[in-house]
Amino acid sequence: MRRNKLSFLEIDYENMAKKDKKSSEKGKVRAPFQSPKGMHDILPLDEPMWEKLRKDVRTIAEAYNFRRIDTTLLEPLDLFLRSLGASSDIVEKQMFAFRTKGGDMLVLRPEGTASVMRAYIQHGLSHLGQPLKLYYIGPMFRYEQPQAGRLRQLHQAGFEILGGDEDPVYDAQVILACYRVLESAKIKQLIVRVNTIGCRNCRPNYRKKLTDYYAGRGGNSNKEKLMCRDCKRRLEENPLRLLDCKVPGCIALKKDAPVMLDSLCSFCKNHFKNVLEYIEELKIPYALDHHLVRGLDYYNRTVFEIFTESEAPADSKAPEGKLGPQKFEYALGGGGRFDYLAEMIGGRETSAVGGAVGLDRVVEVMKAFGVSSGRAVEKVFLIHIGDLAKKKSLALIEMLRHEGINVAETLGKESLKAQLRSADKGGSSVVLIFGQKEALEDSIIIRDLRTGAQETIPLHKIAAEVKRRFK
Ligand code: HAM
Repeated sequence: MRRNKLSFLEIDYENMAKKDKKSSEKGKVRAPFQSPKGMHDILPLDEPMWEKLRKDVRTIAEAYNFRRIDTTLLEPLDLFLRSLGASSDIVEKQMFAFRTKGGDMLVLRPEGTASVMRAYIQHGLSHLGQPLKLYYIGPMFRYEQPQAGRLRQLHQAGFEILGGDEDPVYDAQVILACYRVLESAKIKQLIVRVNTIGCRNCRPNYRKKLTDYYAGRGGNSNKEKLMCRDCKRRLEENPLRLLDCKVPGCIALKKDAPVMLDSLCSFCKNHFKNVLEYIEELKIPYALDHHLVRGLDYYNRTVFEIFTESEAPADSKAPEGKLGPQKFEYALGGGGRFDYLAEMIGGRETSAVGGAVGLDRVVEVMKAFGVSSGRAVEKVFLIHIGDLAKKKSLALIEMLRHEGINVAETLGKESLKAQLRSADKGGSSVVLIFGQKEALEDSIIIRDLRTGAQETIPLHKIAAEVKRRFK
């Protein structure tokens, strides 16, 4: 028997295939396959919106001199254990991890930053410039409980600035790049929530203050009893994460917790002050959020998240199909500084800062607000009548494509009526009709579907005529 090892399980494909065959022989109706839970296909009707967004990301990235990087979808599991931290939600609960037949432990990347830093170190990319600005667009995978805005296959556009000086101007630049992407999607009332979580020198002092507060040393001592189970553990492992907890009892407890700002060293204080001054100068709306810590170990100093405060109109359609005003409680983007990440994964000390925008959430908000993807690409529809015209149609399409004209057709259909119906469905307003007579005379009929007006034109002039009409 042939067995393949995947995901710690031995999958017996032969047995599975046998069972499958048996059930089909019994005449059981088999349900059609569905995409995995929390993972969505991006369908043709939504693609123009996605494509606009990807294009805007590319334009913004190029304008600020970010260079594209595409890292592998699978990464060594250890990369994320070391960089995100064993107590992060992603590592604890959300990794799509498996063991290969060769024994390697791999994971579908849950985020892009550690991958980009891995590639930066592996390929010695520092020689490309200091700092090096990189951007990416692509899918990430997290084993989440799916709900609105929370998917298992999500798409991010990320901006990372690696190497060079730890200059606060770069913190402001990544915030700006993320902000501009959201602005390009016409999302209104954006607000950047920003905080600092200090550095190796000042954070231990803050951690102590926080632990003392929660453990009740020197004051009221029953907080620990009121905490959720996860927070009791976090108190030992990573007390900063207590500020991140969304359980109502824990939210109430953090109200009087000490804030990092009071424990910052002078370097961090100055760094944060400068970041705020830059974003003020850029007129980016922001709010200080002393409880923002972000759940990943690699961050230090600046951390930020971007939200929209606007509500979608009452008649907008939520993804679950509900009607009514919609608030968007989730972050549309987030990031921060990660100066220690390179060392954490075996590289040299490298200052770094970055951020990522969640494209699925952006598309969800765009849909709720009825933001359109802009003008669709115009296409001419080619209709053929008869064998000779059909034979010559492929070469004609090539000639038009060479001239930069997009051509739609249903060459497999023969009836004029059916082809006209397809043209109408596809949204083409200009139709070319190529019949037996035209094919013999090297001419073609051009017809405006909106007015019904048509004329016959020599074939060599058709590209110029279509372009004139599209203008
Ligand atoms: P993150 O906050 O985990 O940060 O994700 C960034 C954005 O991705 C979030 O603000 C959200 O919009 C979107 N996102 C996250 N999880 C999901 C999900 N399950 N479903 C849908 N969208 C989601 C990072 O990933 C960091 N690597 C960002 C960064 C870049 N930090 C420094 N450089």
